[in-house]
Amino acid sequence: MVSAEIKNRISALREQLEYHNYRYYVLDAPEISDAEYDRLFRELQSLEQQYPELIIPSSPSQRVGGAALTEFTQITHTTPMLSLNNAFSEDEVVAFDRRVREASELSQVDYAVEPKFDGLAISLVYERGQFVMGATRGDGYVGEDVTANLRTIRAIPLLLATPNPPQRIEIRGEVLMLKADFAALNAYQREQGLKEFANPRNAAAGSLRQLDPRITATRGLHFFAYGVGQCEGVVLPSTHGEVMDLLMAWRIPVAHERAVVQGVEGLLAYYQRIGAQRDSLAFDIDGVVYKVNDLAMQQQIGYVARAPRFAIAHKFPAQEATTQLLDIDVQVGRTGAITPVARLAPVSVGGVTVTNATLHNEDEIRRKGVLIGDWVNVRRAGDVIPEIVSVVMSRRPSDAREFVMPTTCPVCGSHIVRLPDEAIARCTGGLFCPAQRKQALWHFASRRAMDIDGLGEKLVEQLVDENLVHSPADLYRLGLLSLVNLERMAEKSARNLLAAIEHSKRTTLARFIYALGIRHVGEQTAKDLARYYGTLEAMMAADELQLQQVPEVGEVVAKSIVQFFAEPHNLTVIEMLRAAGVCWDESAPPVIQNSAISGKVFVITGTLPTMSRDEAKAKIEAMGGKASGSVSKKTDFVLAGAEPGSKFIKAQELGITILDEAEFLSLINENQGEEDGQGY
Ligand code: IVH
Repeated sequence: MVSAEIKNRISALREQLEYHNYRYYVLDAPEISDAEYDRLFRELQSLEQQYPELIIPSSPSQRVGGAALTEFTQITHTTPMLSLNNAFSEDEVVAFDRRVREASELSQVDYAVEPKFDGLAISLVYERGQFVMGATRGDGYVGEDVTANLRTIRAIPLLLATPNPPQRIEIRGEVLMLKADFAALNAYQREQGLKEFANPRNAAAGSLRQLDPRITATRGLHFFAYGVGQCEGVVLPSTHGEVMDLLMAWRIPVAHERAVVQGVEGLLAYYQRIGAQRDSLAFDIDGVVYKVNDLAMQQQIGYVARAPRFAIAHKFPAQEATTQLLDIDVQVGRTGAITPVARLAPVSVGGVTVTNATLHNEDEIRRKGVLIGDWVNVRRAGDVIPEIVSVVMSRRPSDAREFVMPTTCPVCGSHIVRLPDEAIARCTGGLFCPAQRKQALWHFASRRAMDIDGLGEKLVEQLVDENLVHSPADLYRLGLLSLVNLERMAEKSARNLLAAIEHSKRTTLARFIYALGIRHVGEQTAKDLARYYGTLEAMMAADELQLQQVPEVGEVVAKSIVQFFAEPHNLTVIEMLRAAGVCWDESAPPVIQNSAISGKVFVITGTLPTMSRDEAKAKIEAMGGKASGSVSKKTDFVLAGAEPGSKFIKAQELGITILDEAEFLSLINENQGEEDGQGY
């Protein structure tokens, strides 16, 4: 016998989960975090695992169940799912309103107005409040049974939230994918080398037509209701607006943007209002829908062919258009990334003239099969850069040609290279390339690089825009006069900046290597390289294989270093920096090699009482040890301060020696003593 307490807990958890789904999907106002939701969900799952006899099909844990199908069963809709007539202009809307007024014999009509969701039409059947069957629209008469997939959509309640549910009700609406989920899905598809979806509607359709509901479950589909089909055992309210309110009370999502307006002026004002919001909505819409609000009046006005006469869709300009791809250029980003850009014959997309579209990278061009000269479908959504969606193969000209990635940077002429395992090709001009100048300078001056106090992003921007600085070497030629002429630069701060620049000249080899901004050479790698080679010349003379001898330096890093130094422009900048007086101590005391610390891996966690983590790290490195970010079997010591967190627990689990600050300092001091006090 299961105790009443367990049963109550299970039903409380189910209610809470349903409630939080409602907060999230229907009200768009979640009360708890995703993590908290997951916690409740796991608690329910584990109780149900212990007491399987208590599992019911409407439990939130039972959304994904059953085996994959081999095909979908066909379903005949009890009342056909009709389509809507379209209006593309104000005149057509005025004509629609005139027809409605004539048929209804009213001088002004109340209309229920809603967004026109750009997804797939779906019918949901609830019997005595339980979701029992869901089908696609199909041809309007016969659709496909996609119940198992629809059950995975958390926006669709498995139970209607009412004590008196109708005997049977068919709720109609649209399944769609939110723009953000679509972007994430395509990013994933791209990463995995899988085909991307052209738009959220295709992605929603593809996700709903999966034979395996487990796949649909991962796609995070959404649902909005816009009407009711056949129903038994309930008296519905008398207007469409009130029916929507009732569905919402039952926890069925309906559009927040719905309204009831008066007359044709109301319709056109709504069209303008939603049009202005279109880009900022979380989902794609392709227009708005106007429906006579009074349901009895709807029936009186009736239908023509397969569409109602009491409703119409007022469409927005399409967000896709077809045009010709004239050429493919490349652009250089702030970090040297080379992006192919499509030059298009000008075409109007959603009311905006488009002449360029991004192609992301070379692989993307191959995957889409785009040739220069092709006719292509272009899509623009909101502020997003227009994209090429697909090629119109039937219109491919005989002289269409493949894109070839240029070998040199269009901005600075340095070589373009693509490292193994990377999708993006990059300009190797680093310090020299004007396109990368601001980023390179900012990195050069940053605290862990040359540490030029006061030279932040804003100031770098000003210096470059005013043509005062082209390469890092120019920083060392700046004078007081040019600085005080800059906007918002007082003499005192100018003097401070000059002093900071002067001060930065005396640096360390590790900082200098890091400041160069070689791709894949972070702070730690720069330290490893400096320690291994001792001089810049020795490092620059090393080939790929030799570089890989340096601990932690692999093929990608080695390639990147060799390419950097192979670029004459980069060598010139290094020369100029040294000529300007940038120097470091090449005969720095060798790191103590034989201490108990050399070669040992430390992890620092928590807040130390008297030292910063950076200071502790410097002490470890000066003694030939290494500071690492995460605890593993390779960790020798964990230096733990206050509130140490998960690294501490992991260290305990692995049986790693844990030191507090005092123990750490005495370890350092003991070892220094052995080496005659020589140190950092
Ligand atoms: S009402 C009698 N309302 O548009 C037809 N449809 O062209 C009742 N749609 O297949 C449809 N948003 O999938 C209605 N707010 C909305 C809609 C909407 C999108 C779709 C629906 C239908 C198509 C009709």
